[in-house]
Amino acid sequence: MTENTLLCGQHDMMPQTNHDDASHLGYVRSLRRLITSTLTPGHSTVFDARIAPQVEKDLGRPAKTRGELKKYLERDPYHQMWAAMLRTTQELMWEAVYNCVDRQADTLNKKFQEVRQQPGPGSLTIDPDFEIPAYSDLVDNHTMPGGYHHEVDVDDVLPGAAYEQSIHVYMMGGMGPYNDDVGKMLCSYVKWRRPDLKPLRILDIGCSVGHSTLIYADAFPDAEIHAIDLSAPLVRFGHARARALGKSVHFSQQNAEHTNFEDCSFDLIVSHIMIHETSTKALGNIMKEMRRLLKPGGFAANLEMLPFSKKTPLQQYLTDWDSVNNHEPFIGKMNELDMDDVLRKAGFSEKERFVDFVPIGFNDPDGGSLDYAHLIGTERHIFGADKAA
Ligand SMILES: C[S@@+](CC[C@H](N)C(=O)[O-])C[C@H]1O[C@@H](n2cnc3c(N)ncnc32)[C@H](O)[C@@H]1O
Repeated sequence: MTENTLLCGQHDMMPQTNHDDASHLGYVRSLRRLITSTLTPGHSTVFDARIAPQVEKDLGRPAKTRGELKKYLERDPYHQMWAAMLRTTQELMWEAVYNCVDRQADTLNKKFQEVRQQPGPGSLTIDPDFEIPAYSDLVDNHTMPGGYHHEVDVDDVLPGAAYEQSIHVYMMGGMGPYNDDVGKMLCSYVKWRRPDLKPLRILDIGCSVGHSTLIYADAFPDAEIHAIDLSAPLVRFGHARARALGKSVHFSQQNAEHTNFEDCSFDLIVSHIMIHETSTKALGNIMKEMRRLLKPGGFAANLEMLPFSKKTPLQQYLTDWDSVNNHEPFIGKMNELDMDDVLRKAGFSEKERFVDFVPIGFNDPDGGSLDYAHLIGTERHIFGADKAA
């Protein structure tokens, strides 16, 4: 029996859930909702009642940084309970996802091979000599077993299938049935900021399975769309998923720090929630590469979570919790960076670069989703450049 209690958008590559999967995944999703909507905000009450007064007593002033709060939160029983529940829920999520996906390994990998034989739309290029940078290879991002790069079978797509299903649970459906909420938001922003732009070539970097990429295929039907990621299983799955949904995208396994595209290849370059998964060094290289690839008069835009400058020390601490406890080692560092300075160092002039904060649901005809605002704040951080013509 196939159930769709997660309200996932259906396509031929979507792992099918039986009764037990649906119940397991639905349970984890509900538990996550309980934690993030009740227990996470509950920190404020605990903070005001006993942590802030103790900090003030010890320091003679309120905490200025998340580091100053660390020892107080780590020994607080409320925070300890929250942390244990959140970490355990993450492990339960992967158990539920891989139970479901592993059982369908042969079917999904066979479907990929069948789809790959079709003449189009779009294409897939995997680099057999690809070197995964250590900063991604060594990290099991968001506690995903084996991370993005783990392959068991030849031409494996399972990490892609697992990623697709996990986002529905992790974001509690808040990114929409096709997990493309951030794509919709950034694409609306691009159209609002550059109504004159009629891109003929678009690049999405750090596309994972192409959730956001497909939005651009609909928004700019005349454009040739390219999408790159470090992970072979993710772009394989993305390719089959795009074909299953009838969209034309050219996926390739590439490092956004140094791609094989010619100078000035793209009119529009975008990234969505990618930068928090790159090292600081890689981020500098990626921005330089964006500049090299952008045509004069072209537009580049990156969408990310809110930086620490927009958060209280308590919010910063709770965001940074994932760096240490959920295998997201770059979140803390990235949120401290001044993106204007990163863009400046990449060679974009003051006139070209921009940094913006945009409400969730901005310009979105569906109104966007605030379901997970308690997790990420009510705004997104968008930064990039208009390359001089
Ligand atoms: C959270 S996922 C991105 C989600 C996706 N953009 C979306 O909108 O659904 C981050 C992705 O960035 C990719 N990534 C990180 N560093 C990269 C690099 N240097 N080049 C290409 N992809 C990279 C990772 O492999 C991962 O798939």
